[in-house]
Amino acid sequence: MKVLVIGSGAREHALCWKLKQSPKVTRIYAAPGSDGIGQIAECVPIKVNELNALAAFAREQRIDLTVVGPEDPLVEGIVDLFQKKQLRIYGPTRKAARLEGSKDFAKDIMSRHGIQTAGHKTYDQPAPALEYLRNCDYPVVLKADGLAAGKGVTIARTFEEAEAAINESMVAKRFGVAGRRVLIEDFLVGEEVSVHAISDGHNILPLCLAQDHKAALDGDEGENTGGMGTYSPLPQVSSEVMRQLERDVIVQTIHAMNVEGEPFKGTLFAGCMMTKQGPKVLEYNVRFGDPETQSILLRMQADLFEVLSATIDGRLDQVEVNWDPRSAVTVVLASGGYPREFEKGYKIKGLDSDFGPDVQVFHAGTKKVDGQWFTNGGRVLSVCALGADLPDARRKAYAAVERIHFDKMQFRKDIGHRGLK
Ligand code: AMP
Ligand code: GLY
Repeated sequence: MKVLVIGSGAREHALCWKLKQSPKVTRIYAAPGSDGIGQIAECVPIKVNELNALAAFAREQRIDLTVVGPEDPLVEGIVDLFQKKQLRIYGPTRKAARLEGSKDFAKDIMSRHGIQTAGHKTYDQPAPALEYLRNCDYPVVLKADGLAAGKGVTIARTFEEAEAAINESMVAKRFGVAGRRVLIEDFLVGEEVSVHAISDGHNILPLCLAQDHKAALDGDEGENTGGMGTYSPLPQVSSEVMRQLERDVIVQTIHAMNVEGEPFKGTLFAGCMMTKQGPKVLEYNVRFGDPETQSILLRMQADLFEVLSATIDGRLDQVEVNWDPRSAVTVVLASGGYPREFEKGYKIKGLDSDFGPDVQVFHAGTKKVDGQWFTNGGRVLSVCALGADLPDARRKAYAAVERIHFDKMQFRKDIGHRGLK
């Protein structure tokens, strides 16, 4: 079977790595892929938003399964396009992808179906938003309605900060049309967990829990990033709470989408806050998390090609997935300055080390020139390890990190800290 993976990050590198282990998969293409992914897949120079070109490639090469990494093509309707052309693709339709593409749509679904989330108000104009902000409790959370590459969320501690965020989004249009509409949300306190599940619209396969570290610096300080590291499982979350998350968040959401007449097929990833009143949904994603996927796939004991194929065919109840009881830890190595300005083109040393069987290094922003690796993005590498328990996995991941070096390398030294308490 021939597989096409769309995207170019460490998540897509991990997806290719896992799909390659399937005895059914004979060839893997990645569009556009990267030099790192090119070590295990054939890269084709088509961008993730060139939907027609991607469909034409899938048709010409008789691709048996296309897997989409990032959200943008899903929200743009790549699944609808492929389905129209009778091409097999894994992921939600454009309408179902609105769970991630419009925060207002997601809130509407949650409120109509009793799914717990932060209280919120939606504004299309700055003046009434500012009026609300003059009298509300702080901190308060402001979110651009549409896709803003993870940068559309501001936690404002004062009116002045909130006003600046409103002006940036609604007046200066920093996020373009995605920020014309803004949600103002109550600030929730608690621990965040990433809840992933695969659904064929009826059957639901919960994946193992993971926790991301969104802040750039140790101790959860600094700006929000795309994610600086993950681990799985979470020793601090009981199996009872896991079942509650599955029942009250995942099952409810899949059910809600069916009732709405927009069945959800693909990966549903709910970012949840564990509050004193129980879990509440912070956001939905309609794809695999990055860097959650790196830790999750290290633990997955199943043929990923089979799982994704079965999802498309609506027979997810026929596949069996087991989870390695060991712990996985992913440490993201980023360029100094990320998530703001950073420089590229620094030589990466140590990537050819023999890291041993329990370590995987997935490439996010790298480039190979004359046989030598260089940095080529904000998030550069995901260094992942399996260990007997969380401390052991951390030890192995950080030992691998020690062997890699590039100028201005930035990473968190406390991945998994909440799980150690
Ligand atoms: P989102 O993209 O909606 O997940 O927001 C990005 C990050 O902002 C989340 O991972 C949380 O850390 C934080 N956040 C979002 N919404 C809230 C909220 N209502 N209360 C507290 N923190 C939040
Ligand atoms: N790690 C968060 C995300 O993929 O959205």
